[in-house]
Amino acid sequence: MSTDRTTEHDSGDFDVVVLGEVLVEVSTDAPFDDGVEARLGVSGDAFNVAAAAAAAGARVGLVAVLGEDELGDAVRRRVEELGIAPDLLRRRPGQQGVYFVHGDPDGEREFAYVRAHSVGSTLSPEDLDLPVLKRAGAVVASGITCALSESAEAAVHAAAEVAERFVLDPNHRPRLSSVDDARRRLRDLAPSAWLVTPSHPGETAELLDATSAAEGARSLVDLGARHVAVTCGADGVHLLEGGVEQWIPAIPAHRVVDQTGAGDAFLGSVAARSVLGDPLPEAVRWGVAAASLAVGGRGGTGVVPTPDQIRAHLQHEDPHSEGGRA
Ligand SMILES: Nc1ncnc2c1ncn2[C@@H]1O[C@H](COP(=O)(O)OP(=O)(O)O)[C@@H](O)[C@H]1O
Ligand SMILES: [Mg+2]
Repeated sequence: MSTDRTTEHDSGDFDVVVLGEVLVEVSTDAPFDDGVEARLGVSGDAFNVAAAAAAAGARVGLVAVLGEDELGDAVRRRVEELGIAPDLLRRRPGQQGVYFVHGDPDGEREFAYVRAHSVGSTLSPEDLDLPVLKRAGAVVASGITCALSESAEAAVHAAAEVAERFVLDPNHRPRLSSVDDARRRLRDLAPSAWLVTPSHPGETAELLDATSAAEGARSLVDLGARHVAVTCGADGVHLLEGGVEQWIPAIPAHRVVDQTGAGDAFLGSVAARSVLGDPLPEAVRWGVAAASLAVGGRGGTGVVPTPDQIRAHLQHEDPHSEGGRA
């Protein structure tokens, strides 16, 4: 565990700062029904991204609003447990956002959200410490963060404006926003983005009218993004870096338990490794390895691989050796 790291520094400087909402997950093995047993977890795309970035060795801050009740306390404990600095968390009265999921790795997943008007969606520009965001190596936000509320979208814009490297995951969720709104957000934010990470074929088709990953990447560069990493599920990543295209294949997963959160593990790892000095293609390779291991765990942080496990997986060695946070 790297919880010490969060107290070691007091300079207020972060390698990676992530903006979003942390959700409590209630997962069941059986379809939703009265009497079905459930398990609590802490999740949400921003939280998963922050966890992956911290595991990759970055000093990570999470800008999110938690309630003042026991659920907020539980979320904060898990944040610290994963080595994410709690300094940028905000607490105020309100209802913790929750979602229910019935996960079946081979079949359909059922989701039900209880997040409308949640305390997390009250995120606003007033919650930002702009000098801290300005000094951060990278600032990460997603389409989900923008879709929480108007004030959350304003916060993302304010953060993107001051960030040295603004990283945007379009993360389109039809239950949270319309395609038109998601497209507008992408057009608005792409010009500020150092890196955008859309998924193919879902987001490239729906948000960019692209029929290939390469076409999706080029249209984001046309919109003003500096670099684009199009994630193509179990196949790999199409990277467009400063006009140069390259294909970075996925590493076959030893075990697939839950593929949700693969994109989050990828994104957090890429943001962290690039801020820590890796050239982008190398950071993407690291992200591909981290995501391939992360799909072996349940939920976004069921398996958060350590750097040693990731290096081993990159060299096709046994990734399950030891030391991971399972
Ligand atoms: N089943 C899998 N096996 C190995 N790697 C995977 C698998 N699924 C996803 N990945 C890796 O994670 C990255 C992100 O996954 P993807 O499904 O495209 O993102 P998202 O979760 O945003 O939809 C992929 O580019 C790939 O490198
Ligand atoms: Mg994605």
